Amino acid sequence: MPQDVQDNPLLDSRDLRLPRIADPCVMVMFGITGDLARHKLLPAIYDLANRGLLSPAFSLVGVGRRDWSDDDMREYVEKSAREGARTEWSPAIWEQLAAGMRFVTFSDFEDDEAYSRLTDVVAELDGTRGTKGNRAFYLSIPPSYFPAVTERVANSGLVDEAPGSWRRVVIEKPFGHDRASARELDELVGRIVRPDDVFRVDHYLGKETVQNILALRFANTMFEPLWNQGYVDHVQITMAEDIGIGTRAGYYDTIGAARDVIQNHLLQLLALTAMEEPTSMDAAAVRAEKEKILAAVTLERDGVLDLDATTARGRYDAGFQGGVPVKGYTEEDGVPEESTTETFAAVRLEIANRRWAGVPFYLRAGKRLARRVTEVAVVFKKPPFLPFDAAATAGVGANAIVLRIQPDEGITMRLASKVPGTYMELRDVTMDFGYGASFNDESPEAYERLILDALLGDAPLFPHQREVDLSWRILDPVIEHWAASGAPEGYRPGSWGPAGADELLARDSRTWRRS
Ligand code: BG6
Repeated sequence: MPQDVQDNPLLDSRDLRLPRIADPCVMVMFGITGDLARHKLLPAIYDLANRGLLSPAFSLVGVGRRDWSDDDMREYVEKSAREGARTEWSPAIWEQLAAGMRFVTFSDFEDDEAYSRLTDVVAELDGTRGTKGNRAFYLSIPPSYFPAVTERVANSGLVDEAPGSWRRVVIEKPFGHDRASARELDELVGRIVRPDDVFRVDHYLGKETVQNILALRFANTMFEPLWNQGYVDHVQITMAEDIGIGTRAGYYDTIGAARDVIQNHLLQLLALTAMEEPTSMDAAAVRAEKEKILAAVTLERDGVLDLDATTARGRYDAGFQGGVPVKGYTEEDGVPEESTTETFAAVRLEIANRRWAGVPFYLRAGKRLARRVTEVAVVFKKPPFLPFDAAATAGVGANAIVLRIQPDEGITMRLASKVPGTYMELRDVTMDFGYGASFNDESPEAYERLILDALLGDAPLFPHQREVDLSWRILDPVIEHWAASGAPEGYRPGSWGPAGADELLARDSRTWRRS
């Protein structure tokens, strides 16, 4: 290192502005022809390459059922990168990336001969591209294929340890459909790599605004003293989408809203909002605190388990959204008429610990709602005493801090203020921090951060199997209860969900935020 760099404390090797560049490696992507790869993973890989964060040797092997040549795959990846990438098109970067692309056709995931071709292709890339034996297996495939894939990958020798190189497996949700199947899945993956080499993707953790929850809480003095049952009345976590299920009936109808996003994204948001300060930002320290929260979550309300009172579900009817006619859920292509799958789920949770005793956390998620918004709203108790005329404070609500996860990323604080004038009248006002106004750089896509971290072996943004397990512990009883309760209640597209969701809060004399 040059002397001036060595002497400059702002520019040492720990300088956060120095790019973290991934080791040369081969990524083998199962499910490369799927929607997730096309819309998210491949554009993110291109953006990483374009930002200089991938080694020039990075190589990508696509695995799929199509009868493609390497050039066919290059054409497909190019199209997906041109359509979805955030950074500008660079022919030089593309050529370098495309040179390391190969496609291996599998008749199905039990095709033994294809695994031996895959092994040869990976060995060839190690030799020609200098990928040094480092391998990442990206499994963007339904869990039902895991037994076939993991068994054959293990037998092919592709994951055998070689000195000085690494093997990692990146897996996409769903991590099972309940606690027992999640454990089985984990056991299968455990046959091919060590637990520390498994990277479970919850793409919400790759979002800047989600990472910022820990920054807000633990890099500031102002909030933490209030962040407890002494001051917080309740917390609302909302993930509303205005879209329907689109072409994903095959996946969605077997899953429903609770498994699709509450089991992972919303419970992770809850854990980050409620956890204690970790001793460091290391994976083990952060995960340990999240696990304690997930283990303390209870579905009981004041010590009583009554899931009819503390959960709500619904599914969208036919109607209009933004003036456009839309189908009802059961009329969507591929959804069986007798389906009982929910497209909206809400649940009231409590956290049984000293910090949060008695503070309800309300979680809701749904499709075809009024608008797309994800937020965590921490709503505070009202002041114990107000030295004003009752009329002066009639328009004042409770203080709130709203962590705006998306799409209008930022933080809002709601507080009471005097209305200018010759008498005392108070009204709620908001103070805003917006990413767009405060930072010049556009935030990277969640998948850029997560793919890079997996290639670097950095685990803090990936949930551990114990978190997955504890999240299923919370949801299993809810899903079992719903399974025995027939079809969900309908709701109007463009609304905020079924009446049952409003009733859930009304039981506690509260209302949902109409974001
Ligand atoms: C996925 C769910 O995890 O998240 C989808 O499977 C959902 O159903 C998507 O639409 C939403 O992601 P984002 O990043 O747009 O909020």
